Amino acid sequence: MKPSETPLLSGSGITKVFGFGNNKTIALQDIDFSFREGEIVSIVGESGSGKTTLAKILMGLLKETTGEVLYKGLPRQLRKHSQRKRYWKDIQAIFQDPFSSFNLFHKVVRLLDDCIELQGLKLNKEERLRRMKEACSFVNLKFEELMNKYPFELSGGQMQRLMIARIFMLHPKVLIADEPTSMIDACSRSTILDMLLKLRDENNMTIIFITHDVGLAYYISDTLYIMERGRIVERGPAESIILNPTHDYTRQLIEDVPKIHEEWNLA
Ligand SMILES: Nc1ncnc2c1ncn2[C@@H]1O[C@H](COP(=O)(O)OP(=O)(O)O)[C@@H](O)[C@H]1O
Ligand SMILES: [Mg+2]
Repeated sequence: MKPSETPLLSGSGITKVFGFGNNKTIALQDIDFSFREGEIVSIVGESGSGKTTLAKILMGLLKETTGEVLYKGLPRQLRKHSQRKRYWKDIQAIFQDPFSSFNLFHKVVRLLDDCIELQGLKLNKEERLRRMKEACSFVNLKFEELMNKYPFELSGGQMQRLMIARIFMLHPKVLIADEPTSMIDACSRSTILDMLLKLRDENNMTIIFITHDVGLAYYISDTLYIMERGRIVERGPAESIILNPTHDYTRQLIEDVPKIHEEWNLA
């Protein structure tokens, strides 16, 4: 499905300052963005460039110091719990460390079943099981083998796939994926990327993929945003940025890519 032209999530003049006085960190400085429905956008930058801060602002977990984020063209209302709950139906995130997103005392079956609960659906047991199995098969996991396991009994790759199974069940309009593949091996990494592409293709999901790896970003994205020290230094179609970078920092990131591939071949 082709991305539509209407911005689904956009923002202008977003600045985020942490701390005060001498302890001040400007994590984001005057950021503008505009994400369309069904678009895959990568935010690429080195560690400390402000990517996670931006992800948290998009999620509504952090409040921007100045600027405004618009969702479906309107300012977000996130003051009340009910408003946040509604927003999080549409906007979901997966993070680098899957342990941080799961209740470790819940078995897989409960973690998946919770998604049905979260959507406020009243379904009988048979239908719940059918949906959980369908989500597992979407990410090539065997529900029967995993349903009675706890998160710490799964491999890193299985955990990330379980996260994507949850996203499949929740089907948000926007998925923010903050370095979701940085803790797993190269083989599981490409599987995860292909699953994200499938989520977009089948559900027209907007995906904001956050990474320090411009190679991964190029593989998955329609559009790249290059971040350096809290600023967007370059943005545009992935191909034109890779073939024709205009910023030194982007060139540097691209030069590092062959080294990453060498690492992969050794793995
Ligand atoms: N809660 C916080 N309090 C103070 N400084 C923070 C906080 N979160 C992030 N920062 C700072 O903001 C900058 C950007 O961090 P972050 O968004 O985590 O970058 P990235 O995800 O690109 O590695 C860093 O200098 C970091 O130290
Ligand atoms: Mg980060």
